[in-house]
Parts: sequence; C-alpha cells; structure tokens
Amino acid sequence: MRRLGLAATLAASLLASAAAPGCSDPPLFGPPTESVCPTTSTLTYDNFGKPFVETYCTDCHSSQLTGAARMGAPSFHDFDTLFGIKAVSDHIDETAASGPASTNSSMPPRSPRPSIEDRRLLGEWIACGMP
Ligand code: HEC
Repeated sequence: MRRLGLAATLAASLLASAAAPGCSDPPLFGPPTESVCPTTSTLTYDNFGKPFVETYCTDCHSSQLTGAARMGAPSFHDFDTLFGIKAVSDHIDETAASGPASTNSSMPPRSPRPSIEDRRLLGEWIACGMP
C-alpha cells in the first residue's frame, strides 16, 4: 500500500515537471496595446517607422535574409518594407509596442532594445495607420 502511494506521488510529480518548462517561457505575444492616434501625431514611415525597424528589427526580419541569417525569425515577417510591416502590424503591436493596455517587449530578443518611450511611439504610429 505504501509503495503504491509512493509510486503515485512520483508519477504525479513527474507529470508536473514535464508541464513546467513551457509555462516558464515568457509568452511571445502580449495583449494589444490599445494605442490611440493623437490628432497631433507627426510620426511617419520616413521619420519614425523606417529608422525604428532598421535599428531594432531588420537584422533578422528582412526579405534580404534567408536561412540561418534570419536567426530564427519566421518567414513573411519582413520589416524592410512598409508593406511588410503593415501586413503583420497587429503582431508587431503585440510583441514590441507599448500603450494604455500593455507594454510588450518580447521583440527584439536581444540588444539593442528600444526604450519604453520608443515602444509607445511605435504603438502610436501603428494606431495612426502607419502613414
Ligand atoms: C535577433 C533576431 C531578431 C530581431 C532583432 C527581432 N526579431 Fe522578431 N523574431 C525573431 C525570432 C527568432 C522569432 C520567432 C520567435 C518564436 O517563435 O518564439 C521572432 C518572431 C517575431 C514575431 C512573431 C511572428 C509570428 O507571428 O510568429 C514578431 C511579430 C516579431 N518577431 C517582431 C519583431 C519586431 C517588431 C522586431 C523589432 C522591434 C523584431 N521582431 C526583432 C528574431 C528577431
């Protein structure tokens, strides 16, 4: 009886530890930032979006890169064109932007990382429709 009890406890703890690693990984996607576009916004692709992604994203997320050079960045997430950014802007908001509802910082996965203020501006620019 005691042996059986021990085996059951052991099995239960093995099951628990098998489930643990996935749970401790930080999630890739956060909630939408719910950013709003102020009528006074002056952000454009040329003065904000392009320099932002070129500083923080296109070392991995670029249509110019293939295979190992992408460092694991998934295909069709290429931010070297405005078209590529707009195609997945909701995902960009959920991984790299900051706004009233959330601050998402899973991207980029290494330095250099944007400041919270730069992440807030990213949320604003996306909310404004990425002019
Ligand atoms: C060092 C390389 C690198 C940089 C720089 C980088 N990423 Fe990533 N990105 C990745 C990798 C690797 C994944 C896949 C992660 C995963 O699946 O867990 C990814 C996944 C993503 C995804 C999710 C794609 C999907 O739908 O599955 C988005 C969105 C994203 N990155 C946006 C960005 C943005 C925006 C920036 C710049 C602010 C950025 N990334 C910078 C490597 C990078």
